[in-house]
Amino acid sequence: MIREIVQVGDPVLRKKCANVTRFDQELCALLDDMKETLLAAEGAGLAAPQVGVSVRAVIVNADEGFFELINPVFVWQKGEQKGPEGCLSIRGKAGQVVRPSKVKVVFQDRKGDRYSLVARDFLARAVCHEIDHLDGILYTDKATEIRSEV
Ligand code: CO
Repeated sequence: MIREIVQVGDPVLRKKCANVTRFDQELCALLDDMKETLLAAEGAGLAAPQVGVSVRAVIVNADEGFFELINPVFVWQKGEQKGPEGCLSIRGKAGQVVRPSKVKVVFQDRKGDRYSLVARDFLARAVCHEIDHLDGILYTDKATEIRSEV
């Protein structure tokens, strides 16, 4: 089911999200809906608070594959890259954001099993952007050269 994407100004986007503690049917439904919503919106990533659910779950769709990261935590961050970002919760805008060029995160999957992911370049940027959402941070807090897209 496609869910409504919350837009900037909604307080849910500014809350620190709670850890996922139950790996149940409700979580599966949330993740399935997030994927459907992301694909329909043709975005690169989506965090649970963007559909109004304040829990630590994000999805990322990149060349390397489709990732569901539950309770993601950075192990390390290396390097620096500057590049363009937008956000499905901030329609019609884009900006330049400095991010690490390479990150390692540990996370759980929808069953609660633990994995790690090393991401670089665009995937690293997307992972950082989405994890920021879990702490109530929007890319516009960090961006320079924010402009309206036509
Ligand atoms: Co975003």
